[in-house]
Amino acid sequence: MAILPIRRAGDPVLREKAKRVRLPVDSSIHRLIEDMWDTMYDAPGVGLAAPQIGVGLRVIVIDVPGHDRVALLNPEIVKRSGERRVDEGCLSVPGFRGEIIRSVKVLAKGIDPYTGKEVRIKAEDDLMAEALEHEIDHINGILYIDYLPGPEALVPLNDAPEVQG
Ligand code: NI
Repeated sequence: MAILPIRRAGDPVLREKAKRVRLPVDSSIHRLIEDMWDTMYDAPGVGLAAPQIGVGLRVIVIDVPGHDRVALLNPEIVKRSGERRVDEGCLSVPGFRGEIIRSVKVLAKGIDPYTGKEVRIKAEDDLMAEALEHEIDHINGILYIDYLPGPEALVPLNDAPEVQG
């Protein structure tokens, strides 16, 4: 287990479409997930995607209030609906936040790295819904700043509380 450096915007690994994890997984994937938890909690953050520690695989972890923490392989959004404004931040864009549009309802699926079974996660109007979209964007090479109208929409955090993934 290790706390690894978090890659920042500008690093090409954050812009690649990450590769699917082949199943069944071996222990290297479990080690990767342990490193992701360690790195995420140390940051601190509420979510992390493997490319953020330089690994181009479709793996995400999320731990937000009101939901069990979750690690998913090959996650996908199954369904999303509604629009809401959220104030978002990202561990790969430290010191800033920005207002973007996210979905109200999100249904995602992925593979549980320990059972190998498919799991579905439903979230509505909360941080889990936002984090699922944010982390799945990461494995597709998308950063939340891509949704901002321009660089001037990136707001310095100053002392505002950070919620980042
Ligand atoms: Ni992020």
